[in-house]
Amino acid sequence: MSHPFIEHLRKDHEVQRHLAEQLSNSETSEEKNKFRQALAGALYPHIEGEDASIFTYLKSKSGKAHKGALEAMQEHHLDRILLWELMDLDIDDEIFSAKAKVLAEVNAHHLDEEEEEHFPRLEGLATHAELDELFQAYEQREEEVKAHEPFVG
Ligand SMILES: [Fe+2]
Ligand SMILES: [Fe+2]
Repeated sequence: MSHPFIEHLRKDHEVQRHLAEQLSNSETSEEKNKFRQALAGALYPHIEGEDASIFTYLKSKSGKAHKGALEAMQEHHLDRILLWELMDLDIDDEIFSAKAKVLAEVNAHHLDEEEEEHFPRLEGLATHAELDELFQAYEQREEEVKAHEPFVG
């Protein structure tokens, strides 16, 4: 049984996968708008929270943990760019569905790597007490983002 923080992150991933699929399958403007908003609300606070907790921790280590954290943070950066562009896009723009699909693919790859590589590594390095602290840092950052980002709510 994983630490509750890791369980929490895995559950978030399932929500993201589901919303990305719903967005990719959206046909009407109303559906596209609804699911892009829902995906932004699920994805953006999550990546900000992970950067402020698990990846700050893994980055402070050496070797694969450090290198892997830098790569994961760049993947978050790519998520952010695609998400911001998607939120900015006219809902009826012909590239909307293409951009939504690419975001879904980029993020799906990232979620798999976290679950297969980063989370097991983190659980091997961090103590239970450290994971408790990282969970707090994650939730604190998530709350800040929810309070300040206009497109997240
Ligand atoms: Fe992530
Ligand atoms: Fe994640």
